[in-house]
Amino acid sequence: MSKEQRQGKQSDEVLQSLRWEKGALSLLDQRLLPEETVYLRLTTPQEVWEAIRELKVRGAPAIGIAAAYGVVLGVAEFAGSGEEWLAEVNRHAEYLATSRPTAVNLFWALDRMKAFAQDLAQSGKTIVDANQALLAEAQLIQAEDEATNRLIGEHALTLFQDGMGVLTHCNAGGLATAKYGTALAPFYLALEQGIKLKVFADETRPVLQGARLTAFELQQAGVDVTLICDNMAGHVMSKGWIQAVIVGTDRVAANGDVANKIGTYSVAVLAKAHNIPFYVACPLSTIDLSTPTGADIPIEERHSDEVSMGFGKRTAPQGVAVYNPAFDITPNELVTAIITEKGIIKAPYSDNLRQLFDR
Ligand code: MRU
Repeated sequence: MSKEQRQGKQSDEVLQSLRWEKGALSLLDQRLLPEETVYLRLTTPQEVWEAIRELKVRGAPAIGIAAAYGVVLGVAEFAGSGEEWLAEVNRHAEYLATSRPTAVNLFWALDRMKAFAQDLAQSGKTIVDANQALLAEAQLIQAEDEATNRLIGEHALTLFQDGMGVLTHCNAGGLATAKYGTALAPFYLALEQGIKLKVFADETRPVLQGARLTAFELQQAGVDVTLICDNMAGHVMSKGWIQAVIVGTDRVAANGDVANKIGTYSVAVLAKAHNIPFYVACPLSTIDLSTPTGADIPIEERHSDEVSMGFGKRTAPQGVAVYNPAFDITPNELVTAIITEKGIIKAPYSDNLRQLFDR
């Protein structure tokens, strides 16, 4: 895996989480932010798998896009029959699907690549042309994500007024997607339209996506952002500084239960206690009607070192038992609305989410 280092901010360049460049996946190593801007050049599905597992790329839509490119890399050098090519595509897709369990966008993107490859295999194209078309499909997933997020931002912005304080948790921004993000999209659009919002970013223990990524990308863009520790959210709400909460999600179950970064549930409970609306922003590709409730969503557990020696320094006694779930479930009754590219959805979620796909 080669590394290309671009240090410091290049004034008007917006950092892109990933892009296809010269036959490889160029991926911003998010583990190193905000201190270092390093783009990795990935050329194999194994490298993409590892980048997803180790959070070099993270955020539900971004890992789906990365995995789609991983499939492209897997068959880039393939020489064989159409049937063998399809079997290779499926093999790489199934392998990449084992990288992380919670974000449904990963499986959604891989299923889309598999279905596309199935059609290609029957089309009689040469392997060279099929590979070209497969790359174009991955690029389309990325381009659609950008357009989708802009629409989500437009819908979400109708819920905010000039002067409001808005709290967010984790990073559901441009770094977690192709561009704009989901929960952070309305902040970028507000900036474009001169609407002043005061954003509070939870730091998001244990991996600090809020501090390292949300505070970083919003500050770079010029959004008014204030970083707080997770345990300060109730305090700032009690002071009357927060008029809305907006977060992203890794998977919405058919009944409207929402999986998102650990700590989201606590924020939702606090929002309820303070009578503050709690919004969830996501593309349709994050809504999983085949998962009935939040209890059916697999929750990733990560290494204890993230809690006891995050970023290399020991902060807990050696050998202490650690529980480190990466996500939690916010029950649908705490969710004021789900904001998608097709509009704003409210309870009853079981009916209204289903109708969204029928429209
Ligand atoms: O573990 P991470 O950093 O991948 O978790 C990311 C989140 O929880 C995001 O809020 C979610 O994926 C939505 S990103 C638009």
